[in-house]
Amino acid sequence: MKYYTQFENKQLADTLIQKALEYKENPLLDKTLGQGKRIGLLFLNPSLRTRISTQIAASNLGMEAIVLNMDKESWALEMEDGAIMNQGKVEHIKDAAGVLGSYFDILALRAFPSLTNKSEDSEDFILHQFIKHSGLPLISLESAIRHPLQSLADMVTIEELKSKPKPKVVLTWAPHIKAIPHAVANSFSEWAIGCGHEVTITHPEGYELDERFTKGATIEYDQEKALADADFVYVKNWSAFNEYGKILRTDESWMLTEQKLLKAPNAKVMHCLPVRRNVELSDEILDSPRSLVQHQANNRIYAAQAAISEILR
Ligand code: CP
Repeated sequence: MKYYTQFENKQLADTLIQKALEYKENPLLDKTLGQGKRIGLLFLNPSLRTRISTQIAASNLGMEAIVLNMDKESWALEMEDGAIMNQGKVEHIKDAAGVLGSYFDILALRAFPSLTNKSEDSEDFILHQFIKHSGLPLISLESAIRHPLQSLADMVTIEELKSKPKPKVVLTWAPHIKAIPHAVANSFSEWAIGCGHEVTITHPEGYELDERFTKGATIEYDQEKALADADFVYVKNWSAFNEYGKILRTDESWMLTEQKLLKAPNAKVMHCLPVRRNVELSDEILDSPRSLVQHQANNRIYAAQAAISEILR
């Protein structure tokens, strides 16, 4: 494997899930695999979990991790090939990525979407510029359209806690006060369908996701109907995709509460974090035994470790 940027196939997903579970059991199982190697963790946007879990994962593999918060600590990057750089951008991606390519063995990149340029975001333009100009293996730490390390951690969590071979997994839209990217929702849908779960996606009309990520899922506009008999409920906000980046509604009627889970008494509730309490998800759910949010966040370490080790082999 050279690039870890998306769901590839069930066989690879199963291999990564099993590897992550092995690392959870024994984090230092491959403690010399990355000896003498360096991974560059490049952040164009903020992070808590992704940054620290990936650093711990690299350390568990004996690898040095160097973090660069490119948005705050480095030069403003020009991303367009052929640009005349007479405005605010100081360094071209071609030069920066080339240099980074000579410093590291693996690059890992967080690059959120603009939510204003749908075609550039949809083709993951920035991620592909780094791949093209660095020449290195690359791990996505969340791109414009996908968050594959989060999704792998989520699949590991479901694998650990499912009580039937094909659990009902519901992705439900939640309110938010800001325009939020689609990456977590896209990726969760892509992975949950690819891993063979029964997937239902529920959201208000106007919040349809890019169909590339939802083929194979049931789309249900009635949230109560969607939640019935759910085994896992994944809560996430995203902005509109068709009316790109717009907030169409913010009312609390879509916030998940215990009342809404009366027909799903055993449902476990997931969220990638950070979460806006009592906007996206109620305190009563987040602080209850249903909540898997800390479990998911812990699994981020082993998901990252599995992805890095697969590239190192
Ligand atoms: N879930 C997640 O990616 O968290 P961070 O944004 O804090 O990395």
